[in-house]
Amino acid sequence: MEPIVVIKDLRKSFGTNHVLDGFNMELLEGENLVVMGKSGSGKSVMIKCLIGLEQPDSGTIEVMGKDISKLNDDELDEIRTEVGFLFQGSALYDSMSVRENLEFPLRRHTKKFGVIEDTTPLVMEALKSVGLEHAVDLMPNELSGGMKRRIALARTLILKPKIILYDEPTTGLDPITSKEIILLMQNVQKKYKTSSIIITHDVDCARVIANRMILLVDGINYAEGSFEDLSNSEDVKVKAFFK
Ligand SMILES: Nc1ncnc2c1ncn2[C@@H]1O[C@H](COP(=O)(O)OP(=O)(O)OP(=O)(O)O)[C@@H](O)[C@H]1O
Ligand SMILES: [Mg+2]
Repeated sequence: MEPIVVIKDLRKSFGTNHVLDGFNMELLEGENLVVMGKSGSGKSVMIKCLIGLEQPDSGTIEVMGKDISKLNDDELDEIRTEVGFLFQGSALYDSMSVRENLEFPLRRHTKKFGVIEDTTPLVMEALKSVGLEHAVDLMPNELSGGMKRRIALARTLILKPKIILYDEPTTGLDPITSKEIILLMQNVQKKYKTSSIIITHDVDCARVIANRMILLVDGINYAEGSFEDLSNSEDVKVKAFFK
């Protein structure tokens, strides 16, 4: 399998806080890669570097064969339509209805699909993928936490991205809703053939969804392997994740 994302020797500090200190990662086509790391270890920073929201101090990031540091704003925008990003939390626009939230990326990224006269079919298809067609005219404050996550996922899916980045998709949800979200992520991968990076510290989520895992410890890709490999490791720092 070809890598669709390649991160080499990524370094990022904030003052004297050396968050990423030589981090390496490859995302292979079609896989679910789980990245685990304790709170504050730099998982979100890594993801933000990957989509150009943070500038790395050094290192290279290639997305679909392109070094993102060499892209101009237009090209970066184009790559962003291929990389769906679910922020930690759901980050819906509270003043917009579900429909308007989903239309937003279509209106913003007109290059990929052109100007769409009638967005309804695309909006409804994306809502169907997350099982929430009936919520199309609701406002975010009328949605539960789990529904918000699903709508946020629908908003990402509407651009038909090749890569989806999930930052803590199950955090703050009850176990049953978490399972629903995990199932949904698996269905999305099957239906859209996406490659995903899933940031989580939910061991159950990792067990179910990971084709491969990377542990981010001390700013580096400290350990890599399948869930079985890592959960059976004798390394103290690795063991700490699976207690
Ligand atoms: N814009 C910023 N300015 C200064 N420090 C930052 C900034 N963004 C992140 N940091 C610091 O970088 C470190 C890593 O933050 P990050 O958000 O990546 O952690 P995380 O691994 O995602 O944690 P969590 O599991 O709690 O989400 C933290 O110490 C944080 O304070
Ligand atoms: Mg984070």
